[in-house]
Amino acid sequence: MNDTSEVVLRATAVTKRYAGVTALDSVSFDLRAGEVHCLVGENGAGKSTLIKAITGAITPDSGTIVLDGNDITKASMRTRRDLGLAVIYQDLQLVPQLSVAENIFLGAELKSGAKLLDKRTMNARAKELLDNLGVSFRVDARVGELGISLQQLTATARAISRDSRVLIMDEPSAVLSGHELDVLFGVVKRLTERGIGIIYISHRLEEIFRIGDRVTVLRDGHYIATSNVADTDQPALIRQMVGRDVEAYQNDTIDAPKGAEVLRLENVGRKGALHDISFTVREGEVVGIAGLVGAGRTELARVIMGLDRLDTGQVYLGGKPVKISDATKAVSQGIALVPEDRRAEGLVSMLSVEQNACLSVIATMSPFWLVNYRAMHQKVGEAIQAMAVKAASVKSPVSGLSGGNQQKVVLAKCLSSECKLLIMDEPTVGIDVGAKKEIYNLIGKLKEQGLAVIVISSELPEILTVSDRILVMSAGRVRGEVDPRSATQEEILELAIPPMSAILEEVA
Ligand SMILES: Nc1ncnc2c1ncn2[C@@H]1O[C@H](COP(=O)(O)OP(=O)(O)OP(=O)(O)O)[C@@H](O)[C@H]1O
Ligand SMILES: [Mg+2]
Repeated sequence: MNDTSEVVLRATAVTKRYAGVTALDSVSFDLRAGEVHCLVGENGAGKSTLIKAITGAITPDSGTIVLDGNDITKASMRTRRDLGLAVIYQDLQLVPQLSVAENIFLGAELKSGAKLLDKRTMNARAKELLDNLGVSFRVDARVGELGISLQQLTATARAISRDSRVLIMDEPSAVLSGHELDVLFGVVKRLTERGIGIIYISHRLEEIFRIGDRVTVLRDGHYIATSNVADTDQPALIRQMVGRDVEAYQNDTIDAPKGAEVLRLENVGRKGALHDISFTVREGEVVGIAGLVGAGRTELARVIMGLDRLDTGQVYLGGKPVKISDATKAVSQGIALVPEDRRAEGLVSMLSVEQNACLSVIATMSPFWLVNYRAMHQKVGEAIQAMAVKAASVKSPVSGLSGGNQQKVVLAKCLSSECKLLIMDEPTVGIDVGAKKEIYNLIGKLKEQGLAVIVISSELPEILTVSDRILVMSAGRVRGEVDPRSATQEEILELAIPPMSAILEEVA
């Protein structure tokens, strides 16, 4: 890619208003052949709205979009696809019951004559597509049985199964870690070498410096700037995104004395998922759980929460052995979970921001239906404000919120529920830099109030920042414990890399 590469996609002065918000205010953006053009901005800045205007998922109020010389401003999504526009949505949109190959060709009418292609041809072509991406795994495996990384590669292969000119990736890396990220970046590089222009959205700024050629910043629906990645740095980008400097979070309470034991696991196991797990969490302590995707961290959270049964071992709460058979029991025992898949598990999309945020507070504040609404609204309101949830009003339905703002509502909900033990699974995926720091501050405050907290995170800088102790998991076991005061990312990764046998099992 160089400065003179042709522009394949150009959006000019695109404006989109919703009741109460201007999501995009005359924003322009262009993409060159063979470049990775990153799009960044705080939650609610307008990134997804711009993407939707480009793909045709929404019609802008004004502005034009030109793809390869064709004005597509009013074209159907189908026409845009035929002209070479490909998208990988954040939720991947795969059918878990179908095979990799079937998913790749789903709806693409892979026919010979009028007949649907037979399985063999389809599998062979799917394999070819994966080869082109530089990866190889079983194309007849059912997608639901694959790890998230291979699912994403499937979605990528599907997106480029036709001759694409432009590929849009909306936060593709949010669920990836370690070598999976390397695979993704390898694929991105191959695609750009074929002249495909890529629009890449991510909240992890370090990625932009690994794969980006140019970066455009949006703020509050406005275009702020476009820079060559080589000519900018993280602090400069953050200033453009947030409008001010954001200092790093300091874990001031790491040395503070911890209180009584809240949770203890002894030799906990679950067939095929967890093996021989023992650890304790005390009042006022944040225990970080690091590991790669698939290491068993979410499974561990589910077992503690009573969502899955444990086969062996014992859980103790406040020193007493307990049997948590379902989530209601967990909540009544004072355990709260911020689930990883928040959009699916944490929100009711027709309800308003405030109603959603209050849901679990109702469940925990009072065992009877005598809820003090005033107190509840105040608590929830404080959490929503601290995280700067961007919504026209707390009465707006959450379905109209940007991805990151929906996440914040779920967090507000959990943070304001009365619990003794808070488990957060990937608390800041999809959350922008400024709000991340607010969330770390909130975790610090909860800790000072004596809460026991478990933070599961794939982001190593995050886990090193918020934890008092870090357990590293791989292949369902705790491989070791490290001290965040002295540990490095490399040390954690070394413990987190699963044994070779486990990797081969998944990719075979
Ligand atoms: N369907 C809708 N109805 C009402 N408001 C909407 C709708 N879609 C988006 N918005 C608003 O437009 C603004 C921009 O949202 P957008 O989804 O583009 O943000 P984003 O930059 O993608 O943020 P994130 O990083 O959180 O995904 C937000 O304030 C959002 O609430
Ligand atoms: Mg978005």
